[in-house]
Amino acid sequence: MSDTSNKPRVLVTRKLPENVEARIARDYEATFNPDDRQYDSAELLKLSEGMEAIIPCHTEKFTPEVIEHLPSSVKAIVNFSVGYDHVNTAAAIERGIIVTNTPDVLSDATAEIAMLLMLGAARRASEGDRLVRSQQWKDWSPAFMVGTQMTGKRLGIIGMGRVGQVVAKRARGFDMEIHYHNRSRLPEENEQGATYYSSVEELLPHCDFLSLHCPVVPESIGLLNEQRIALLPDHAIVINTARGAIVDDGALIAALSHGGVRAAGLDVFNNEPVGIHPAYRELENVFLLPHIGSATSETRDAMGFRALDNLDAIVAGKAPGDRVA
Ligand code: 8YV
Repeated sequence: MSDTSNKPRVLVTRKLPENVEARIARDYEATFNPDDRQYDSAELLKLSEGMEAIIPCHTEKFTPEVIEHLPSSVKAIVNFSVGYDHVNTAAAIERGIIVTNTPDVLSDATAEIAMLLMLGAARRASEGDRLVRSQQWKDWSPAFMVGTQMTGKRLGIIGMGRVGQVVAKRARGFDMEIHYHNRSRLPEENEQGATYYSSVEELLPHCDFLSLHCPVVPESIGLLNEQRIALLPDHAIVINTARGAIVDDGALIAALSHGGVRAAGLDVFNNEPVGIHPAYRELENVFLLPHIGSATSETRDAMGFRALDNLDAIVAGKAPGDRVA
């Protein structure tokens, strides 16, 4: 790295797509992470010395303590993510650090994964895959591996924002009936005939499938708890592509084990990746993915460019398009 460069210095915490890193290298004095190793808080703070901005992923946790100890050079946290629950925004505001995210560009990819999880959970995809791979598939009969159909079923959506609305659109292709809860009711043209419920409790009994698309805020932590799961029909299938924190794992695992719900499709977990609840690995009726909602080459590029548009604006003293704090 050249000390004589006048370009703003930025820390890029994870390996980003080639095109994105090329644009960063063109416009900034960047410290990259070619080994793509996850930094702990101490490393993050050390590497932030002299940086004007940090481009992190959800894997870096900006707790109040981390933010308090960030060098004064750091003026912005430019997230490569739409979710920003890994950043304590109150602490960032306190220190005058701008925080941005990357909305819109990952809605299609995440909605695709929600559809995959619905199909995977309903049609017992992991069970089938395991059977074939382990050479345990010995016979076929009409009673073999019978799942449940998605077509024509009722899909409940909690959080009818950008991703929720794309999921509703895709689900209509399966002739699903859309029911939803959101903090505020959508205008009629965006509802597209979906039925609105002003509370989660009112929505739940109407769900054959339930898909979570709300952000992590204090009110949504543990939202899907024992009491609420009890309001779902026993045949309901729970889908989570949002954040693990929205689900009370103990309650969901109990319901999956005892017939309180039929199945679940999960892409996100509490304490992911290494500390996820071990019972999920043992259950047959779950379809599990490792937080790959936005993991397509198209979307990764778009997320990177969106983050860089935000960074360029901040550096130019303009308002970034996606400021969240
Ligand atoms: C991203 C996500 O891959 O953007 C988000 O909020 O959850 C993911 O799809 C990840 O957060 C990148 O930092």
